[in-house]
Amino acid sequence: MKMKSVTATDLEFSAVGFGCWAAGGSAIWTGTDDANSIQAIRRAIELGITFFDVAPVYGFGHAETILGQALRGQRQNVVIATKCGLSWDAGGTITNDLKPATIEREIDDSLRRLNTDYVDIYQIHWPDPATPIAMTMETLNKLKSAGKIRHIGVSNFSVALMDETRQYGEIVSHQGLYNLLERNPIQYHNIPLEYRTEDEILPYCRRHGLAFFPYSPLFQGLLTDQFRVQNQFDAHDVRSANPKLNGKLFETYYQIRAELLAFAAKIGKPLSQVAINWLIHQEAVTSVICGAQTVAHVEENAASASWDFTPEMAAAIERILQPYHDPVYTA
Ligand SMILES: NC(=O)c1ccc[n+]([C@@H]2O[C@H](COP(=O)([O-])OP(=O)(O)OC[C@H]3O[C@@H](n4cnc5c(N)ncnc54)[C@H](OP(=O)(O)O)[C@@H]3O)[C@@H](O)[C@H]2O)c1
Repeated sequence: MKMKSVTATDLEFSAVGFGCWAAGGSAIWTGTDDANSIQAIRRAIELGITFFDVAPVYGFGHAETILGQALRGQRQNVVIATKCGLSWDAGGTITNDLKPATIEREIDDSLRRLNTDYVDIYQIHWPDPATPIAMTMETLNKLKSAGKIRHIGVSNFSVALMDETRQYGEIVSHQGLYNLLERNPIQYHNIPLEYRTEDEILPYCRRHGLAFFPYSPLFQGLLTDQFRVQNQFDAHDVRSANPKLNGKLFETYYQIRAELLAFAAKIGKPLSQVAINWLIHQEAVTSVICGAQTVAHVEENAASASWDFTPEMAAAIERILQPYHDPVYTA
């Protein structure tokens, strides 16, 4: 496995990482099975994947529990990045909450579920405009001093908010929406994004030596060989709330996918590997956190790093995408 590093931390990252949202269970992700998730995570480690991204909110604790079980005996060999700042109530309503007391409770819950006594990178999942970032950072700095977390990261932060955050402590990473077809997206599942990934976040991370973790690198399954038009998801699958995977917008994305599939077939690679390797190839991208439900997914995704993505391939992809620049890159 290809490894990457950044100046902000001495951690090493596998170029292909593992995203654990689907491990949150079949109540949120069609077809997920706990035994398969555990096998997929263990196979990932065998294949050299060392970076695992998760969050308490994925399956309301379930994904962290599954990751904790799968990693038994492997803690020293992996980098765990979990998150704080999204709380849920008994009815399942999710709230942005970065208040100190909430974070202090969240970290202890995460450590217990993950079956570890420290988190390598503790990421603020989404901004909470109701809580001053100075207050949040004070709490996170205390967790660092206590040894419960090694590093602080952010997710879905704008450049301005990162600048403000860094006045109160060190951050080592940004996690944001980024894939072949979502270059400077303005929304994620109908949530407006306050950042433009390719134009703002990537240059910022490069400039400050921060890690960048692109989420939804496979466009939640669209950028794979298996995706079907009439897929689609159970009503409670989180992807049924993605306006780009349903309705009018979807038709355009599906059409571009057909052209990308043809390109992938021409070079003899699965579309998933083309999408992942396009990301790996970019200097600012540190670890591509691919979601995966099965051993077969992981094996295909891990192999993305095993072949050279040439400048000619990059140029051919740009030629395919060029006509769609406005309607899709910035949707
Ligand atoms: N910070 C944030 O706000 C945020 C937001 C979203 C995600 N994330 C993180 O990013 C990770 C990845 O994003 P994501 O889960 O949204 O989407 P993704 O990685 O783009 O897509 C994952 C899905 O693609 C399908 N898939 C994966 N590999 C495949 C393969 N080789 N062949 C065929 N299908 C394959 C599976 O879907 P099927 O179920 O259809 O098989 C899988 O669940 C998450 O797990 C999470 O850790 C973070």
